[in-house]
Amino acid sequence: MHNANSAPLAARRAGPLKGTAQVPGDKSISQRALILGALAEGETRISGLLESGDVHSTAGALRGFGAELTAEGPGRWRVKGTGVGNWKTPGADLDFGNSGTGSRLVMGAMATTPITATFTGDASLRSRPMARVVAPLEAFGVTYEGQGPKALMPLKLHGAKDAKAITAHVATASAQVKSALLLAALNAKGTSKISQDALTRDHSEKMLAAFGAKITVSPRAEGGEVITVEGPAKLTGCSVEVPRDPSSAAFLMAAALIVPGSEISLPAILLNPRRTGLIQTLLEMGARIEIQNRRSSGGEEIGDLIVRHSDLNGVTVPADRAPSMIDEYPILSVAAAFARGKTVMLGLDELRVKESDRLEAIIAGLKANGVRYSVSGDDLTVEGMTEVPGGGTVTTHLDHRIAMSFLTMGLASQKPVTVDDVTMIATSFPEYQDLMSGLGAVMEAP
Ligand code: S3P
Repeated sequence: MHNANSAPLAARRAGPLKGTAQVPGDKSISQRALILGALAEGETRISGLLESGDVHSTAGALRGFGAELTAEGPGRWRVKGTGVGNWKTPGADLDFGNSGTGSRLVMGAMATTPITATFTGDASLRSRPMARVVAPLEAFGVTYEGQGPKALMPLKLHGAKDAKAITAHVATASAQVKSALLLAALNAKGTSKISQDALTRDHSEKMLAAFGAKITVSPRAEGGEVITVEGPAKLTGCSVEVPRDPSSAAFLMAAALIVPGSEISLPAILLNPRRTGLIQTLLEMGARIEIQNRRSSGGEEIGDLIVRHSDLNGVTVPADRAPSMIDEYPILSVAAAFARGKTVMLGLDELRVKESDRLEAIIAGLKANGVRYSVSGDDLTVEGMTEVPGGGTVTTHLDHRIAMSFLTMGLASQKPVTVDDVTMIATSFPEYQDLMSGLGAVMEAP
């Protein structure tokens, strides 16, 4: 996969990172705020929305279904929804760009309304399996035509008429699949019961409750949880305050940990326990991360992070922690390269179906920069070094998190690290380069 207008960038060692960075809004919550706003009756006012490629792709698609979405200023949006079950067939194909979350959640949201839409996206999204979402949606009565057994995009989805509630178990450790089923349940008659073994991020559940859906979440004796949703649901527009994205903050945190002399502050970061697996892991590695002013904002826990350069030690990250840090393995792998000893990351199978095959992209990046690693099945071990050589060029495969992770490596390696393309960073974190240079990082065209 390659981007026709790619822009390479190199990061190199310079002074310590210092200062405060205002990380933008959480991508998962931003996507959900637009989607629920478009399904609700009345007006939803959003503040702190992430203004990024992925979120804008979702906004464009939602307009196609008949919702009115208006940007009123940076991060401030107003959404006039149609009411559950009132979306219309879009006049054109829906292009979701790079966004797996946007496309998969919208598939669920339209699945129980008798309309048809064609979903497509960039080369990365067109290579990602959609069967994991549309196959479970068949229980509601949807039909679809995708490409091949993985139901790749372009994918045409025909929503079900008079859908009935379902009972389903989500075997995949994916919040996207769970969320698609919960959103589909909104317009299915009766009480749907959706269970999952993994404790994946719960932003959909929280926000559905805030919009007035009848939803319950209960732990199961055998582990995991079961969620019930009553349909047809009436959602009412409300105001949503989007906290700052811990998955974006992760790159700044790791940079401060590995660049000697650094001390940075990251205010008001989302600290939902289902998103903080990286912080937990870094603390176990000996990271000097202080969490101040824990408080609640818009129904989510947030706090201010102070991060200082630290001597890290390798640890073993258990497989059951993966859902709470699923997007953070690329940057953890980079931090691990600077730690003393080995870091073992277990159960990384889901990394293979992200914006790129992230497991492959991580090991190619480590190898290109002289870091030793081993892979056994879905487990990755990174051997830490006192000096990381760097000097490599990393292929990003249209994957924003691979780009930001290896730029981070270059800030502390002996030789600069180049990534072949940074344009995709704008899908999740357009301010990345500005914030990093504000902290004193040096990144320039190679
Ligand atoms: C997301 C869930 C995760 C994550 C993605 C955002 C979400 O994907 O990787 O960046 O907002 O629900 P999976 O649910 O497929 O693990």
